[in-house]
Order: sequence, then structure tokens, then C-alpha cells
Amino acid sequence: MSTTVGTQQDELLGKADRYLAGGGLGLFTLPPEVNLVIREGSGSRIRSVAGKEYIDYHMGSGPALLGHAHPAITEAVSAQLPKGTTYYFLNEQVVRLAERLVEAVPCAEQVQFAGSGTEATFFALRVARSLTGRTKIMKLEGGWHGMHDYALWGTVPSAPSDYPRAKPDSTGIPPEVGEQVLVAPFNDMERTVPLIEQYAHELAAVLVEPLQRVLIPEPGFLEALREVTSHYRIVLIFDEIVTGFRIAWGGAQEKYGVVPDLATYGKAMAGGFPMACIGGKAEMLAPLDARRTERTNLAWASGTLNGNPISASAGNAALDVLSRPGTYEGLSRIGGRLRAGIEESGRRHGFPTQALGEDAVFGVRFIDGPRPKTWMDLQKHDRELGLEWGMELLRRGLLVNPNEKFYISIAHTDADVDQTLEVVDGAFKVMAAKR
Ligand SMILES: Cc1ncc(COP(=O)(O)O)c(C=O)c1O
Repeated sequence: MSTTVGTQQDELLGKADRYLAGGGLGLFTLPPEVNLVIREGSGSRIRSVAGKEYIDYHMGSGPALLGHAHPAITEAVSAQLPKGTTYYFLNEQVVRLAERLVEAVPCAEQVQFAGSGTEATFFALRVARSLTGRTKIMKLEGGWHGMHDYALWGTVPSAPSDYPRAKPDSTGIPPEVGEQVLVAPFNDMERTVPLIEQYAHELAAVLVEPLQRVLIPEPGFLEALREVTSHYRIVLIFDEIVTGFRIAWGGAQEKYGVVPDLATYGKAMAGGFPMACIGGKAEMLAPLDARRTERTNLAWASGTLNGNPISASAGNAALDVLSRPGTYEGLSRIGGRLRAGIEESGRRHGFPTQALGEDAVFGVRFIDGPRPKTWMDLQKHDRELGLEWGMELLRRGLLVNPNEKFYISIAHTDADVDQTLEVVDGAFKVMAAKR
């Protein structure tokens, strides 16, 4: 029996290798020894075609904040499916979702829907250019904003950029785009604020992940960005695609107490379905208002599936569940236990283990030294050790992306944490024995 299912997975992996570009779905592919094909997920668990069960700490890279196959989402989507899958025009589900988002997102009086996080940040930058009449944008070193040409500068450099110039992350990006994208170090006010001041008259926007991957903002850093951008009328955009509805109901804006001009949301807001949005004050979103003026005077941000009723029904159901009392205390408690337990176990076995970030989304890095503040601090982590640890976890039934993030869901339980910490300890023990 197990040979047959094992063979099925091998066959599918072989087909993936043959028919999918790069044998996978994008940049991140698991090493062959631990690669898997997923058959199904339920709550905090994933089951592979080979019949192996995992506790999932990737959760679709964030969107499955309710856990897999949450009944509220299944029910809402099942109710919408027989009524049609897409209309292009206004529909009940999308209007209701817009209202809920505006209620939740501190900076938002209105939203504009988009298909993905990449689209949301791309359109937000266009709106900022349209509002200010300026063309340059600034992003922070190490910030991840999706796959468009303006986002892929200084995202994962291993050496410091020549601020404000940075190298493109991807091939295929015209070098001229780099003249429009300035890059400054996250959490380094002394260098970033003067750069903003220096280029203020050319800058349309500063785009920042308020929790930058696993780096929490230093006290005063987001405030300093807020102050200098307000002063020069530069649009401050928070990319809340990871943090939105995850680290607090009102996202990073609520958690860190700084309100941007625009915010981009994605991942968890649509309960695991494809949908994202830009939120902001009505005046900030005015360049999108097609009733206002000639089309040639507008910032275009249309998309065939922008108001998709299936995604919107999933989003409404997800927000209903997340708005229940105790959601964020629960996420924090489970994630907090994991972080503390992983650090304790790693250190006990002699590894300089740091579980960085917030409780609902964190990353484990092996760094001998103080808690990293900037992207360059983070580069001091032991990548090889991180990969070795990640591989041990995968072999033992934790679904993780080595050297990336742990995403917690509301479906993760104390029993999951207990089991996970046992696995983690076993992994560290084996690694320590090899040293
Ligand atoms: C902070 C952030 N912004 C934007 C994106 C891009 O979103 P998407 O993958 O939906 O295009 C991501 C994706 O991981 C992200 O983490």
C-alpha cells in the first residue's frame, strides 16, 4: 500500500519536473529528498499524496490564517458557486467585503480591489505617482513587494546596496527602471531619513513592509518615515500583505500605531482565494475614480477578476471568523509558545537560535549576536544551519520552508505546539550529535 502511494507521489513529482517550469510553482522549491505533492489539508494539517501527515507552518505562505478547509469558508464559497463565479460588475459579496475592510483598516476610507499582492503594490505606486506628479519611489532594503519591475531591487542582497541605488533581484528588468527606484536601509533612521529629504522633490512614494519579513520596526522608525513623508507630501505606503489581519485585526497600523496614506492587503484578507486590495483615504484613491475625468487623466488599475465574488465570499467569511473575540490573543499565545520553545531547545543543544518577528509570523535564524535590526544584520545568519534544521523538520513531519517564515493559523492548537516542540528538540539533538 505505502509503496503504491509513494510511487504515485514520485510519478507526480516526475510529471511536475517535466511539465512545470523549474519543476515547481515559483522561486521556492523544496530539495528533492523532502519534496512532496499535497493531496489535502485540514485545519493545521497537510497530507501528502504519499500519505504522510505534516503540521503545516507555511499555511499557503500566509493566506490560510483560518487553517485549511475552514468550514465557514467552505460554506460561504459553496453557497456562492452555484450563483456564478465571476461577473466583472458590482456584486453583493464584493461590496460587503469593501465595507468590512474599511471598518478594519485604519488608513482606509475606500478600497480598490486587485488580483494579487504584486498587483496591489504595483497599482499603489502608480496611484502615488498620479497624486504627486513625481516618478521615483523608495523601498527599503530587504522589503518584499511582489514580482513587478519596481519591486525587485534590493530585495535579497547579500552585500549592502550602494544606497540609494541597488541591484535588480531578477534578470529581465530594464536597467532604466532602477533610476526610478531608490533603496534605503530598513530600521536605519540616520541614513534613510536624509535620503528621503535629499530626493523629496522627485519622490512619489515610500513603500515599506512595516514588519519587514522577520524584522520588527525599531521604536521610532515608522514614525520617522511618517513624519518626513508627511512633511514633503510623499505618499507613505504600508505593504500589509503579510501583516494585514495577521498581527492584529487592524494590521501593522494598529499594532505599531502609525497610519500610512495607502496600505496594500492580500493573503489572509481573502481566506485563501486570489484577491488583494489597496486601502486609503478617498482623496488618496481619487486618481482611480473613472467618473471624475477623462480616462487619460486616470491611474488605471482595472482587472477582469478584481471583484471576484468567490474570493470576496471567502474574504467575508474569513473576516467574520477573525473578528471573533480572542482571535489575536490565541494566535499570539500559540506563536509565542512556539517561539520560546524553539529558542530554548536550540540554545540548549548549543545553537544560537533566534525566533524573530511577531508571534503570528516569525522566522528562525541562527545568529550568534544581538537581535538583527537591518537586512544586513540578518545576513549574518547561518544559512547552511537553517537549511539543515529545516530539512530535519521536513523529514519529521513539519511543513516548513527552510530559512523562511513560520505562519501560524487559528487552527494550530496547544497539542500541535507540544508535538512540534518534541520534533524540534529531536531535530536539534540529531544535529548536535553530528557536530
Ligand atoms: C509583503 C508582501 N508584499 C507583496 C507580496 C506579493 O504578493 P503576491 O504573491 O500575492 O503577488 C508578498 C508575497 O509574499 C509579500 O510577502
